[in-house]
Amino acid sequence: MGKKEFARRRKRLMDIMNAGSVAILPTAPEHIRNRDVHYPYRPDSNFYYLTGFPEPEAVMVLVPDRPQGEYILFCRERDPEQETWHGRRAGLEGAVEEYGADDAFPITDLDDIVPGLLENKERVFYTMGLNEEFDHRVSGWVNQVRARDRAGVTAPAEFVSLDHQIHEMRLYKSRGEIAAMRKAARIAAGAHLRAMKAVRPGMYEYQLEAEYLHEFMIHGARSPAYPSIVGGGANACILHYTENADRLKEGDLVLVDAGAEYDFYASDITRTFPVGGRYGKAQREVYELVLAAQKAAIARVKPGNHWNDPHDAAVRVITKGLVELGILKGQVRKLIQEQAYKRFYMHRTGHWLGMDVHDVGDYKIGGQWRLLEPGMVLTVEPGLYFPAGTRGLARRWWDIGVRIEDDVLVTKEGHEVLTEGVPKEAEEIEALMNGG
Ligand code: GLY
Ligand code: MN
Ligand code: MN
Repeated sequence: MGKKEFARRRKRLMDIMNAGSVAILPTAPEHIRNRDVHYPYRPDSNFYYLTGFPEPEAVMVLVPDRPQGEYILFCRERDPEQETWHGRRAGLEGAVEEYGADDAFPITDLDDIVPGLLENKERVFYTMGLNEEFDHRVSGWVNQVRARDRAGVTAPAEFVSLDHQIHEMRLYKSRGEIAAMRKAARIAAGAHLRAMKAVRPGMYEYQLEAEYLHEFMIHGARSPAYPSIVGGGANACILHYTENADRLKEGDLVLVDAGAEYDFYASDITRTFPVGGRYGKAQREVYELVLAAQKAAIARVKPGNHWNDPHDAAVRVITKGLVELGILKGQVRKLIQEQAYKRFYMHRTGHWLGMDVHDVGDYKIGGQWRLLEPGMVLTVEPGLYFPAGTRGLARRWWDIGVRIEDDVLVTKEGHEVLTEGVPKEAEEIEALMNGG
């Protein structure tokens, strides 16, 4: 993403805020993994969306119409010794030169400078409740300004959630964002292809996971977008299985939910394929049903349809299919009403996708499902899960778990499947796995 795009986003936010407002947004803290070792640092998505600034210990302050500059970045100062040990810093000069800040101050001066920026302002755009310690500091700054009322200074009287404004912006992807998401999708699709070719009975789930991580990194995606799920056999029925520690067995399916993060944008793909290269009969029946549900759901992704249309379509196909397979008994309409499918399909058909894998943006507006609009990106991921021992379920279905997940961009004409580079037809997958 270029500098100009970050500037455009800040400008849009400031247009919404108007004069009389100040926005305060800290980035994510660093997290310790264990003694002296940190988790790889990932900036807060909202903060990065507006600044492009990748370092920890930074706070963005926007003051529309401030004559000395509207965009102020508080960050770490240059420090040769620290940088020798821990890596380069942009410093105050870099914050201005490389990251487009109008003004930059040391992060250690936050408490001295912010109260002055709040004087005679009406409202503060800041999201309470995410970081208790920082909430405390923000209210402290407002109180400091309040204490100066006899000097004729007025303090902001209103707090507005900053998250909500940014989330509405993030929901609609720009051309640059779509390009990054296409790339994240392409890399993950390539990884699924690689894994389908590499999988062998006797391999450990983590060894298959390694194929994904290798392919992600080789293509510049330095991290998966979330911990990869590689579940063979019964493990496919545990929705968030991430131990990835068991051996893959001939005759089992393996469900892999793995996506890459590229330039801060996520992809999120699930494929379910046979460890030995051929779907068994019962496996194939379940697979075809999930695939039909997924296609029906994707067909409902177009402008003017609402958020829940794809889910409704998937539920219809799945319920009807479960009756045809003899797994559910009764009238399809009634079974849908009773949500009978939920025993085997217990999650929803998708979520927004973007900088966060479960991305931001409201799903309902004024109590109604939101309409789909061009530029939105969502996942479509129906599944069916039949753990062994499920009451009333014939043995032939036991331990089959199938999910098929693609990433879909809403376009003016309808939709574009960003992840179509990886096959999902059973015959295509079998052909690929058997050297076709
Ligand atoms: N990978 C997380 C999800 O599919 O929602
Ligand atoms: Mn997903
Ligand atoms: Mn997923």
